[in-house]
Amino acid sequence: MPGGPDTEREQLEIALLLEGVYRQYGFDFRQYARASLRRRLWRRTYAEGLRTISGLLERVLHDPSAMERLLLDLSINVTSMFRDPSFFASFRANVVPALRTYPFLRIWNAGCSTGEETYSLAIMLREVGLYERSRIYATDINEAVLHSAAEGIFPLAKMQEYTENYLAAGGSRSFSDYYTAAYERAQLDRSLTENIVFAAHNLVSDRSFNEFHVIVCRNVMIYFDRDLQDRVHRLFLESLSPFGVLGLGRKESVWQSDFAEQYDVVDQAERIYRRHG
Ligand SMILES: C[S@@+](CC[C@H](N)C(=O)[O-])C[C@H]1O[C@@H](n2cnc3c(N)ncnc32)[C@H](O)[C@@H]1O
Repeated sequence: MPGGPDTEREQLEIALLLEGVYRQYGFDFRQYARASLRRRLWRRTYAEGLRTISGLLERVLHDPSAMERLLLDLSINVTSMFRDPSFFASFRANVVPALRTYPFLRIWNAGCSTGEETYSLAIMLREVGLYERSRIYATDINEAVLHSAAEGIFPLAKMQEYTENYLAAGGSRSFSDYYTAAYERAQLDRSLTENIVFAAHNLVSDRSFNEFHVIVCRNVMIYFDRDLQDRVHRLFLESLSPFGVLGLGRKESVWQSDFAEQYDVVDQAERIYRRHG
């Protein structure tokens, strides 16, 4: 039972469910951090009107739409524009000057969710005059969020908060220049998507697909166990060009990985690192 101790039987059921999901659908959650995984599995179990994790396994094996619902639960998609504004302010101050020396920039925004982070990067790059020479590859495991990201439509009610974040991140214009309000929705300036490619990519099972000058992957690896974090760190290291920059989330760090000595610190508080040359 959720809240109670996890019994051996429950651990077995969770292991079987994760194995079944992996074998049937190819989504590999076997090395996601257990406590949050367990909470979410129980939430989906109850939401489906079921009583056991084994029941949930049967449901997802026989009903792909139940798998879609489970995927939404497991791939926690919370995000916002200019989340942790000081990250973007530091990026502007400490990373952008070096980026100016490149004629063309390849940027990977891994675990982009519904796109708020990607558009924040696009806006920042545009304001420092680098957007035109950038290509942002924005990827996520979840196709539903990618679809929504590509539309670039966000709740109008969020714009006040995003305006504050944008200004705290060092934004130099009026944030309302970047969207058109219609009814309850804000449509972001379509020209921001010109140099963005949204695509499905699973950090657990897919390989590197290019070499990047910048990788931003924030608030994704906190959901992985230590071993899986190391695998993803290896993937990032292999995908970064010499002196490439890695930006992580507030609770993430290269120090927690086997690869710390491969990086210099650009800003430890903001979790920004630069790969050795
Ligand atoms: C909490 S959101 C973070 C969004 C954004 N990076 C931010 O910091 O606001 C985590 C995202 O990671 C994605 N994700 C989880 N596991 C993944 C995997 N194995 N490969 C790629 N993306 C994954 C989820 O679908 C979700 O959209």
